[in-house]
Amino acid sequence: MDNQYKVLLLGSGGREHALADAISKSNVLESLKVYPGNGGFSEDVLLKADEISITDKSKFIEYIKSSQTNLVVVGPEDPLVNGIADWCEEIGVPCFGPSAYCAQVEGSKHFAKEMMKRAKVPTASFAVFTDHESAWSFAQKEMLPLVVKADGLAAGKGVTVAFEMKDVKRALDEIFLESKFGQSGYKVVLESFLEGEESSLFVITDGERYMCLPAAQDHKRAYDGDIGPNTGGMGAYAPAPIVTEAVLEKVKSRIIEPMLDDFKRSGHPYKGLLYVGLMITKEGEPNVVEFNCRFGDPETQCVLRLLDEDILPIFYASAIGNLPVRNLKLKQGSSAVVVLAAKGYPDSPEKGMVLEIPPNEGNVVVYHAGTKRDNSSLLANGGRILGITSFGKTLKDAIDECYTFLSTIKAPSTFYRKDIGRRAL
Ligand code: AMP
Ligand code: GLY
Repeated sequence: MDNQYKVLLLGSGGREHALADAISKSNVLESLKVYPGNGGFSEDVLLKADEISITDKSKFIEYIKSSQTNLVVVGPEDPLVNGIADWCEEIGVPCFGPSAYCAQVEGSKHFAKEMMKRAKVPTASFAVFTDHESAWSFAQKEMLPLVVKADGLAAGKGVTVAFEMKDVKRALDEIFLESKFGQSGYKVVLESFLEGEESSLFVITDGERYMCLPAAQDHKRAYDGDIGPNTGGMGAYAPAPIVTEAVLEKVKSRIIEPMLDDFKRSGHPYKGLLYVGLMITKEGEPNVVEFNCRFGDPETQCVLRLLDEDILPIFYASAIGNLPVRNLKLKQGSSAVVVLAAKGYPDSPEKGMVLEIPPNEGNVVVYHAGTKRDNSSLLANGGRILGITSFGKTLKDAIDECYTFLSTIKAPSTFYRKDIGRRAL
């Protein structure tokens, strides 16, 4: 057997609960610690705020050294954009996640668009502006719909798909005049509208080699029928039939390989997870909507259920630049996740509701997101509360099982979409 890994996992969402579940099953795991985690983790796994910091470099390094952590797995984008993988590199500790330079692929829309342009990766045409007046005068000559994107990280709220000029104006006002996104508002990307069907593809890479997980489809709008406000994601399923073998081959040769080559040429090979957000046309032509520098949430919760091998050696191999040249071992079948959200999500979710979740049944696994423990009670503590996942021979089996289980959960003042995966059934 290889090394035994002492792993630190960072993050607090359903994505991290699913990652922890996969890591816990590893044959080469010595110990797992999680920070800050959520109500789904047992107390002994969680680190406390006085033990570690993800914003204070010296406190972070002190913890890594004293705990003898030998693999750091980073869930969310913020610490990556802030350079946590570089801190690990400085002390010679492998980190599954890209450097701050590479994380700009998510941290700056402008960076990502320039890179795609250079690498000739198919994506929407764009223009970049740093003041309201020039952005607005350009926009008025453009066709609608037009997509307005704040340049920097905006917790998923920086994008407006505008179908009317007044919506373009509103978005520009918010960015430049009201500083809604703070620093992100110094720059705006105006982008043409892409038509088609969206899919999320997760690529594990060591900078040189890469492995793809099965493509997933997320449901971003809050309510059934794809209406209501944009959210982080209300449910997902995998594999997404829209990403056929032929589409995947195009994604590899036109998107993944040129991007990894460009990172390499820049002297910053990309390590970790590259999330490719695709828009696939009716004709099966893939375009990039966005890149993220981390796993998607809630897609991860269902995608990892299709993995049929130990994930930890793969994360480690990515981190040290030694990824095997082969495909990942996958289960035959489909998986789904349905998100239980608090009433008021995404704008002002209610909190503090007492949750009663029966034990997992059949193929169902429940991942926690916005939950916390208060003595013996489990309380809602965030917009997306739980992700109910299942796996089945068919997508219908997986989805039906999620919904049957959801009907047994007691969770006042919550809601969930009833149509996850319906389009693929
Ligand atoms: P992003 O944060 O870049 O993923 O944008 C959020 C959502 O806005 C995406 O998931 C798409 O649904 C939509 N979107 C972003 N860019 C475009 C585009 N160029 N054309 C159509 N829809 C877009
Ligand atoms: N579910 C979309 C994302 O993780 O960005």
